Amino acid sequence: MRLIAKIAVVASALSVFVLASAAPVLAQAAKPEELLKLRQGLMQAVKSQFGPIAAFAQGKGDLPADAAQRALNLEMLARLAPIGWAKGTEVLPNANTKPEAFAAKSAQFMDGWKAMAVESAKLAEAVKAGPDAIKAQVPAVGKTCKSCHDDLRKE
Ligand code: HEC
Repeated sequence: MRLIAKIAVVASALSVFVLASAAPVLAQAAKPEELLKLRQGLMQAVKSQFGPIAAFAQGKGDLPADAAQRALNLEMLARLAPIGWAKGTEVLPNANTKPEAFAAKSAQFMDGWKAMAVESAKLAEAVKAGPDAIKAQVPAVGKTCKSCHDDLRKE
């Protein structure tokens, strides 16, 4: 065998080995505690994007200069959020999600994210329209947070 061919054989054997040994690491990333961090991180991101706009609407701060981008981020986060509640995350230690969100009320739970995405997109439009439109739309977004939390988040 020519040297170059030998190297190729060794390299491909090595890559199989590397893939095989990487697999358990990937599997570990889906441990319950990791998924809970993902879920709660997504919600913290939601809070970080919405908080300052909500504060402005309540007369408690200036409108962030990037308010339109924040509203679009909120829409994207609402579309992304379900990955934090993917199959296999029904039972997580320290989680604050009611079991119904995965069972009897799973359709309502998914509709909640859709409602948040829709109202967030409207918030992005409201930012273009001006302060009064923002103040009118913030409660509509806030309502999507509250109705889901009231029903499907543990106390
Ligand atoms: C469709 C349901 C739903 C919507 C919509 C929703 N949330 Fe949540 N949120 C939850 C659930 C369920 C939890 C509990 C997560 C867990 O299992 O620990 C949560 C947790 C949180 C947390 C705590 C995260 C942590 O670190 O423990 C914050 C903050 C939060 N939500 C903010 C918001 C805001 C702000 C909005 C609206 C802009 C919003 N949520 C919209 C369901 C929702």
